[in-house]
Amino acid sequence: MTHPSITERLAEPEPARESGRRKIAWAREHMPIMTAVRAEFADAEPLEGEVVAMAMHVEAKTAVLAEVLAEAGAEVAITGCNPLSTHDDVSAALDAVDGITSYAEHDVDDDAYYAAIEATIDHGPTVTVDDGGDLVMAIHEDHPALLTSILGGCEETTTGVHRLRAMDEDGELEYPMFAVNDTPMKRLFDNVHGTGEATLSNIAMTTNLSWASKTVVVAGYGYCGRGVAKKAAGQNAHVVVTEVEPRRALEAHMEGYEVCPMTEAAAKGDVFVTTTGNRDVIVAEHFERMSDGAVLANAGHFNVEIDLDGLADLAESRRAVRDGVEEFRMPDGRRINVLADGRLVNLASPVAMGHPVEVMDQSFGVQAVTVRELVEHADDYGPGVHEVPDHLDREVAETKLAAEGVEIDELTPEQTDYVDSWQHGT
Ligand code: NAI
Repeated sequence: MTHPSITERLAEPEPARESGRRKIAWAREHMPIMTAVRAEFADAEPLEGEVVAMAMHVEAKTAVLAEVLAEAGAEVAITGCNPLSTHDDVSAALDAVDGITSYAEHDVDDDAYYAAIEATIDHGPTVTVDDGGDLVMAIHEDHPALLTSILGGCEETTTGVHRLRAMDEDGELEYPMFAVNDTPMKRLFDNVHGTGEATLSNIAMTTNLSWASKTVVVAGYGYCGRGVAKKAAGQNAHVVVTEVEPRRALEAHMEGYEVCPMTEAAAKGDVFVTTTGNRDVIVAEHFERMSDGAVLANAGHFNVEIDLDGLADLAESRRAVRDGVEEFRMPDGRRINVLADGRLVNLASPVAMGHPVEVMDQSFGVQAVTVRELVEHADDYGPGVHEVPDHLDREVAETKLAAEGVEIDELTPEQTDYVDSWQHGT
């Protein structure tokens, strides 16, 4: 049976579409890079004849990316990459756009989530755009016939790139995949500033509690953790960092944060934010030490960083205390509050809107030009994980600087010669 699109699933699609269109229009107006890419793509139609399958967080900024790919001539089939991050109104508005079918729906069960991924694959993609790798995995596991006709794909996030690299090392990755996550224009802004700002603001909006004077435990001091720690410190919180990688731990220490193992941090924290991309970061022995009222949120890709089953086993009872906040009551009376079911809080809490628009303009600018590269130079890339060519990342940075009215210096020929030479000394 064909999986229904969002329009077929909504009782009244038109009001939803109208609301979704307003959200998309606001995002579009604040995405100068995508505006420039859209103008180029609409004119040259570099994706004419291609079919792009996308599994991403379906909200307003992602909708702008889908529109731009469709205007470039592609047929686009899109679904979510997390059961809680879809905005149904945006999904409905997208589904009404010529050349786009959206299967994304908010709060679906596992069966419906994976059926929607299958539905995008039924379109016969020649390009895949993933956030977390679910689409690539499903194609490799269940649709081997497509592996030769797919030109390649793009991956948006750290966890997805890790999964692809593991596949590649096992010799199992059968088509080229670009690690969009790893570009400077994505990772230095989206992971750091986007995750930092959006995580903090979503926790604040979901709980209506202040950061000032709180002790915030940040698990993982990678790109995302740095952003969360910096923004929490900027909101007058005391920041404690936990790490497993010595250089990252040292970096956090030198930034002035307190660094200690989670067993110690557990007793100190008022708010906990996991950003590791790993599993079982906060488990039973930590819940046992937490103080009454502790707030737990995850910003990593999958909902495995906080052991919710372990917490449920320890708890005497659980109840929803606010939209997006579940309280677990321990036998000794302590209450531990978990946000957004332990799913990435900046996208899955009830008030979530994801990263700020300007940040996603950069990430999706890189996505768009990388899809163009895949189609135009498919023969240059064999199966495996590839870095996005640096000139594409620079192109996006230059577009953004121009839009912001920021000018920079250029190297003189003498300077170029100097920095390229090994012969100049004192
Ligand atoms: P990263 O690899 O730069 O950082 C992860 C850090 O966690 C590393 O320093 C690692 O040593 C540390 N770590 C691993 N296991 C740990 C443990 N048990 N305890 C403490 N630290 C541990 O990765 P990045 O880019 O910061 O991404 C982290 C996660 O966030 C990934 O799952 C990624 O997909 C996701 N992500 C989420 C976004 C959002 O919107 N919420 C946006 C971008 C990425």
